Amino acid sequence: MERAAISPSLSQNYLLCPSRAFTTSLHSFSSTRNLSPSSSSIKLQHSSSSSSSSVSSKFINGGNSLTQCNAVLSNSSSRDVSELADIDWDNIGFGLKQTDYMYVMKCDLDGEFSNGGLQRFGNIEVSPSAGVLNYGQGLFEGMKAYRKEDGKNILLFRPEENAIRMRNGAERMCMPAPTVEQFVEAVKATVLANKRWIPPAGKGSLYIRPLLMGTGAILGLAPAPEYTFLVYVSPVGNYFKEGVAINLIVESEFHRATPGGTGGVKTIGNYAAVLKAQSIAKAKGYSDVLYLDCVYKRYLEEVSSCNIFIVKDNVISTPEIKGTILPGITRKSIMDVAISQGLQVEERNVTVDELLEADEVFCTGTAVVVSPVGSITYKDKRVSYGEGSFGPISKQLYTVLTSLQMGLSEDKMKWTVNLS
Ligand code: COI
Repeated sequence: MERAAISPSLSQNYLLCPSRAFTTSLHSFSSTRNLSPSSSSIKLQHSSSSSSSSVSSKFINGGNSLTQCNAVLSNSSSRDVSELADIDWDNIGFGLKQTDYMYVMKCDLDGEFSNGGLQRFGNIEVSPSAGVLNYGQGLFEGMKAYRKEDGKNILLFRPEENAIRMRNGAERMCMPAPTVEQFVEAVKATVLANKRWIPPAGKGSLYIRPLLMGTGAILGLAPAPEYTFLVYVSPVGNYFKEGVAINLIVESEFHRATPGGTGGVKTIGNYAAVLKAQSIAKAKGYSDVLYLDCVYKRYLEEVSSCNIFIVKDNVISTPEIKGTILPGITRKSIMDVAISQGLQVEERNVTVDELLEADEVFCTGTAVVVSPVGSITYKDKRVSYGEGSFGPISKQLYTVLTSLQMGLSEDKMKWTVNLS
């Protein structure tokens, strides 16, 4: 039987609030009550009765109640990795698996987010006239949590970097954004509330998807009057079905971004814009599309879902950030890892000709981690790299980064955040 693994011994204190449907009866919660479809036993308490295993929390539910409460699990000390969700951990793939809780926090015209809390994972209600639906006022982030080999400790990777990137994107999209602290606390709360969905070490990770949306109703073109920050999670395995090396096609007609546009922020429209080229490429058997700059149609930009690197004579090069490329956190981390390994790294304009003559090509991103490129097709010319797997440099960088992310090596960079 599946059970929630929300440990009260966690250092943060998170209120597990029921969704709106439960709001009115929240005050009457005094004993163990099943909130999970899979019979998790979650006890909601008022903060005044906090015990040693549940410290007071200021979390508020996503409804309109301002009740304070704490979440604890009955018999919680005995629950941990042994209480994983009952799924096939060897075949997770990269698709949504509904988990137990999501985090919701709202903000109205005052621009301040407040009263965030955990709710049961489920559909949300928005006006047909919501800014995000009508004018694409939306941003998202992608992050991962890994379970360490001890089965207990959970590692987040540089969560404040995602918070900062969301804030930068929000500024470009005329949206208010949660503070870095609010963002990180919401992510921690969501991960811990869904702990049973974090794959065992070596089986994958918990993908974390923070969203920022204009949910207020607006008809004339203008920023929405209300915003929602939401975090949900899903266990994931490999992003690409290919497993290891991917096959890319260079796209020279469709473009992902333009100078002065929004290509440098993680707005939802950037991803809608690549679906056409990606669908055509996938129908032809390619893994994904590599875009070129829209002015000269000569310089590499990025792949639909990740950043791109080339290696030539042991020098690593990647397109520089100048507003049309997403400033990837894995991209930045890989550059730092490479430098720490004594490798030379260049951020600059990289031409498609250099790509075709590279020794190794690889992609980076939260979802794809470090994915070696097995072949590139450009204008009917196909170039292959390596033996359909990692080249020596991409292998080295992948190993150093993922060992650190999974807690297999000492985190000298101080990038990981431990939740236990
Ligand atoms: C990520 O790598 O987290 C992303 O947001 C890319 C997305 C297309 C899966």
